[in-house]
Amino acid sequence: MRVSILRQESPTAEPYWESFCYDGPTETSVAGMLDHLNFHDDILNDAGQKTRRIAWECSCMQGTCGACAMVINGMPALACDTFLRDLVAGRPEEEIVLRPLSKFPVIRDLVVDRASIQDNLKRSDVFIGSYQPMDDESFSLQYEAAKCLKCGLCLEVCPNYTNGNTFFGAVFANDCYLVHARNREKSREIKKTYARHFGSACSKSLSCMDVCPMRIPTIASMARLNRRVR
Ligand code: SF4
Ligand code: FES
Repeated sequence: MRVSILRQESPTAEPYWESFCYDGPTETSVAGMLDHLNFHDDILNDAGQKTRRIAWECSCMQGTCGACAMVINGMPALACDTFLRDLVAGRPEEEIVLRPLSKFPVIRDLVVDRASIQDNLKRSDVFIGSYQPMDDESFSLQYEAAKCLKCGLCLEVCPNYTNGNTFFGAVFANDCYLVHARNREKSREIKKTYARHFGSACSKSLSCMDVCPMRIPTIASMARLNRRVR
């Protein structure tokens, strides 16, 4: 199986494509495949030339940390939660193409710097503080919104999210909802922050919900906040 990866040696280096021949098990995930390619002392590309190890991130290997987010065959997804059998579907000659998320600066190969997600939450004061829950908010929606991994997959497909300077995307909307639901004293300010950095610019493509690995119903968070903003 041929695997092509968009590689970049450092944040300032030029990206380039390099291909590998994967002959490991197909009953594994893209993360398992990357581990296999990196396993040998000498890493060889598909031309038989020595090359450096493929840089990528992981922690949990079970779809709960968000570190392995990347673009797999054109779709943003978690590498540990994407299985080769689903990608090649009985066609082992199929190529697998991996590239880093495009909405964040590349650090090396498939590793990107997602600090802007946390920076936007910090500079907008989106944290719960003291727990003073609203009386009329759904606990099941709070539970769903709290599952966010901060993986950034939703930002990759969002047509309105560019550099994260003004519009902060679905990851931000869900955290705004949580703060609103769990701290009634902050609710008024949070509603304004939500409107400024999300509500006023979201065009409701809802592609964020299609790719979210935790299946967070962002539209429900939006509906709760939009209802109160007006
Ligand atoms: S909303 Fe979903 S896709 Fe977006 S950062 Fe959170 S878990 Fe990832
Ligand atoms: S390694 Fe944690 S989500 Fe993939």
